[in-house]
Amino acid sequence: MRLNRILQGDCLEKMADIPDDTFDMSFADPPFNLDKGYDSYKDSKKEDKYFDWCSDWMGEMVRITKPSGSIFLHNIPKWLVQYTCHLADLATFKNWISWDAPTSPMGNTLQPAHYGILYYVKDESQCKFYEMRYPHKRCRDKKDCNLLTKDYGGKKHTIHPFGPLVSDVWTDIHRCKHDRYKDKHPCQLPVHLMERLVLFCTDEGDSVFDPFAGTGTTLIAARRLGRKYLGIELSEQYAKIAADKLAFEKTPSKLNDIWVSCYLNRIHTARESDISEGRPKQFKEGWKELFTNWPDTDDKRRDLNTSDLAFTKEVKNKISKLCRPKKKVQEDEK
Ligand SMILES: C[S@@+](CC[C@H](N)C(=O)[O-])C[C@H]1O[C@@H](n2cnc3c(N)ncnc32)[C@H](O)[C@@H]1O
Repeated sequence: MRLNRILQGDCLEKMADIPDDTFDMSFADPPFNLDKGYDSYKDSKKEDKYFDWCSDWMGEMVRITKPSGSIFLHNIPKWLVQYTCHLADLATFKNWISWDAPTSPMGNTLQPAHYGILYYVKDESQCKFYEMRYPHKRCRDKKDCNLLTKDYGGKKHTIHPFGPLVSDVWTDIHRCKHDRYKDKHPCQLPVHLMERLVLFCTDEGDSVFDPFAGTGTTLIAARRLGRKYLGIELSEQYAKIAADKLAFEKTPSKLNDIWVSCYLNRIHTARESDISEGRPKQFKEGWKELFTNWPDTDDKRRDLNTSDLAFTKEVKNKISKLCRPKKKVQEDEK
């Protein structure tokens, strides 16, 4: 199977040509049946028809994922609960990730404030999973307020200097809102959301599949992280935008040989095994060197309450080139 490309066409037709057990990770962000304005797809099927269609492509997705692979499904809770019934016999449930993002009011119900990402594996004894960390949350409301938002009480010196382990509730990634960075597409995902998923269940050189590739977010995340990819997209226009963006993606998202996910001037996600080593745990040299003021004593860690970890000048420059929103990079590089 030739990888590293986007196929334009219907995902069910294209998936039929893909052999069993091909991909290390499959991710689907289908239309949610919310009447969004896609250019080639009518997003308002009868509910039973919509679910039958979802069952067909989910079955195919599971078939073409390797036994050691992971499967992710992004949607609103209403559809995800139905997906779980269908998937119960096909794969093993691991997590419901709640991505905190306001969604459109639906009327006569609590205001929806999260999307779900279902995480399944095909064979639990073979699956890959890596713990991840994200930066501590800090108060940004008042000028000069940089305090950690979580109260660690008297235990501040025990906290991880970079940040906590990623949980199943994600509140640190925002939807793409700024027109300047958005493609002509009604619901594009942020690349750093996809990078977090790619980092936690695949290794460099593994393969990532997306049957509803849109303007290519999953494929870009895979490419930036040194993974192979294949996407399918019905719309000629979206598939072309994705292919054009992929052609600009040349720089691996790596700092001191460590794969990271970053956005604007922050590292958003790093793998625990890439930044720490040994027992008792030490921080890897290549990681500590990214920061000017790595807090290697308890006293310095207590100070983390008020002082942010600062990157060295060289790393700051690298991050600002690596982690600008991609649309801007394209325009600058033209
Ligand atoms: C929610 S969007 C995916 C957005 C994507 N995650 C991104 O960040 O750009 C769903 C996409 O599925 C595409 N689509 C709809 N029906 C399809 C089909 N049968 N085969 C392949 N793609 C399809 C739509 O054109 C749309 O771009």
